[in-house]
Parts: sequence; structure tokens; C-alpha cells
Amino acid sequence: MSELAVFDGKPVRTAPWPTWPRADEGTERALKEVLYSGRWAISGPYRGKKCRERQFSRMFADFNGSRYCTPTTSGTMGLTIAMLALGVRYGDEVIVPGLTWVACATAVASIGARPVLADIDPDTLCIRTDAIEGLITHRTKALIIVHAFCQIAEIKAIVALSRYHGIHVIEDCSQAHGARLDGQRVGTFGDVGVFSFQHSKVLTCGEGGAIITDDFGIYERTEQYRADGRVFSTYQTVNHLELEERGDVLGQNFCLSEFQSAVLVDRLRHLDAENKIRRGNSAKLSAQLEQLDGVTVLKPKANWEETYYNYILRLEPDLLKGNILRAFGVALSAELNIQITPIYQPLSRHRLYNPSKLTRVSSSDLSDKAWTPSGYQLPCAELANGHCLAMPHPPLIADAHELDAIVSAVDKVARHADELGSLADVNPNAAF
Ligand SMILES: Cc1ncc(COP(=O)(O)O)c(C=O)c1O
Repeated sequence: MSELAVFDGKPVRTAPWPTWPRADEGTERALKEVLYSGRWAISGPYRGKKCRERQFSRMFADFNGSRYCTPTTSGTMGLTIAMLALGVRYGDEVIVPGLTWVACATAVASIGARPVLADIDPDTLCIRTDAIEGLITHRTKALIIVHAFCQIAEIKAIVALSRYHGIHVIEDCSQAHGARLDGQRVGTFGDVGVFSFQHSKVLTCGEGGAIITDDFGIYERTEQYRADGRVFSTYQTVNHLELEERGDVLGQNFCLSEFQSAVLVDRLRHLDAENKIRRGNSAKLSAQLEQLDGVTVLKPKANWEETYYNYILRLEPDLLKGNILRAFGVALSAELNIQITPIYQPLSRHRLYNPSKLTRVSSSDLSDKAWTPSGYQLPCAELANGHCLAMPHPPLIADAHELDAIVSAVDKVARHADELGSLADVNPNAAF
């Protein structure tokens, strides 16, 4: 009879981890105020005070040390609108990390631009600067850099490289809200920073996104792309619409509602403090996990204040004989009462990344190499996908002593790894 919880043994922990997303009386009050305010959207009439969306936009720009912020309906639309505002057009190439959430590549493909996949740095799991260099062509218009999981990409070197080649840099900070490199917030190094506020993110309103920039021209275009070509008027009249028609670009409606904005205004106040708790807990957890044979962790650098979206466990090949990474995650999940999964599949073979299904790109165009995911060699992304497990962030805001359960569970599953062979094919269609 196995001791492992996945085979009906006693789990290390059954108690729930802290609930995510978090809310308190302040969040509830903020939502109620919107409910009775007579304004649920920026496209509604001005009611005599700044709407929540403008409030959040100002707060989030200030928080990041950026001049402007345009909220959007999602991170995906943030990326899409950022590219449009930077002038990325049909047929242009945009370099994206070969290992990231599919939205980075699908956003590029959705506007008919070609996603070019770059390999990652095996130490940080973020895009590798020298991999980018080899992919730049006369068609390259932009780079999407992701500060991935709990790491910060080599953004200074990448920005220097892109300036040399005259290419735009979009910093995707969907997994790094509030992180700092040398004291400067991520999202402010490139031309624009993009954020997702989807449910799992460390700042969330359920679904949402934002674009930050210091460039007024880019900002004005992002405003119009997300509000049917409209911008906020300089003058307001009570009970009259606040958005003014401009039409410099062909926009659509990707506006965040007042409810979502109110939640973000409230939760942003907690972000730095929550990130600090996650950082402190992660440091303690890493120190303990590193004592275990066959386990390594991703280390922050001295000049970072990193954000933990996922805590990454790297398992050495000796622990994974018989192709059991996924099974290891399933066993850990059963011990800890939280889902722990392998990190993303490389985009060169991700089942959700299928450019051949695009209807707005001609089939002759789709035959081009840039459109063929399997044509990309991504050895470091492959290696990482074969060795790394990701734990979501909620346990990292638990009391520090509760994280001992994670160490015990990893140790327990590692000691019983040879029992996991029968689970090797478990849940082959899981979506990660
Ligand atoms: C790195 C990255 N980019 C973009 C996105 C897309 O954000 P959204 O789900 O809000 O569209 C995500 C969401 O998971 C992400 O992790």
C-alpha cells in the first residue's frame, strides 16, 4: 500500500490555501459605490466625478512610474492594441518567447503579423537575448518580452539591442506586476508595458488588462483603439458623455467596466505588500527545497524585486526516470490540495497555437516558415518543459510555517518517485 495521497495515502495537507482572488470590505464598498453611481462604463455619462477607470489609469501609471495608462478588457487585447499603436501591420514579424502563454503568439497572429519564436534562457525561462539577435530580419517590427513566472528578463540588454535595430519592445508584465529591476518597475524599460488582470494574476479584477507608456502619441492611439476611436474629453459636462469622437484609427470596444476598475483601484493598494510577503515566503521555501536531492529552484538576482506569479520547481533527470514529470505534479497536487503542473509546452508544439487555423491570413502566406510552429528549434524551452513544475501563487501568502508542507510533500513524492510510472500518462489533455 502506497503512502502517496494520489494512491489513497494520507495527504500532507488537506486544509485550503489562502483564497484567491482576495477581497475585503473595501472591495465590497468600491463595488457598491459603482452599483449606485449611475455609471457602469466609460461610455456612460459623466456624473460629476472622475470615473473609476480614469482613477485606476492614473493610479497604475503612477504606481509604475509611467506617464500614461490605458486599461483594456484583457492582457491579450493589451498586447494586440499595443502592437497596433506601435504600427505593427499585416506581414510584419514580431519576435516572441518560444515558451510563454499562447496569447503572446496568438495576439500577433490575430493582426496578421508573423510570430517568430525565440528560445529561452535556461536559467530564467525568459526570452534569450542572443536568440533574439539571430532572428531579426528586415521585416521585424517588434519584440514581445515576457517577465515569466517569477523572473525578470534581460530587459536592458534587449532594449539596447532593439534600439540598435530600430525595433519596438513590448514588455509583457502579465506575470510580473510590481516587479523592479535596479529599483525601476518592469514595463517601463521598453516602448510599452502590457499587463493582464485575469483571475490568476497577482493583481486581478476577473478579466482585464492595461498598457503603460511614456509616449503621448502611442497612448492616444491605444485609447482610440480600445474605445471605438474615442478619447476622454478635456471638458466634462454632468450627465453628458465624457468620450469624444476622434477616429484617427479604426478602434473597437475593449473598455474595462467601472466594476472591474473599482476592484483594481482597491486591490492595487495591496499589491506591493502582498508581493513582499510572497518574496519573503519564497526565499524561505527555496532555502529549504534546495536541501532536497534532485530539486533546484529559480534564484532571484540581487538587483531584482521579483513578483511570484508561479513558484517553479526544477527536478533533475534522476528523479524523473520513466517520463514522470506530469505524474510528479499530479502526486504533489494530491499531497498539497493545490494543482501543480508542468510549465507551458513550447509554442513550437503547443496544442493551442495553430496558425494554420487562421482565416484572415492567406494560405500562400501561411506556408511561409515564420507561420510554421514545428519549424522552430527551441532546445532550452524543451528542456525546461521536461523538468519544471509550476505552483500557483496563493500558498505564498499563507503564514510562513504553512509552507513547510510544500517541502514535506516534495520530499515525500521524490522518495516515492519510482511508484509514479503508472500515472505517467495521466490526464494527457490537461490545458497547460
Ligand atoms: C505572459 C502572458 N501574456 C498574456 C496573457 C494574456 O492575458 P489575458 O488572459 O488577460 O488575455 C497572459 C495570461 O495568462 C500571460 O500570462
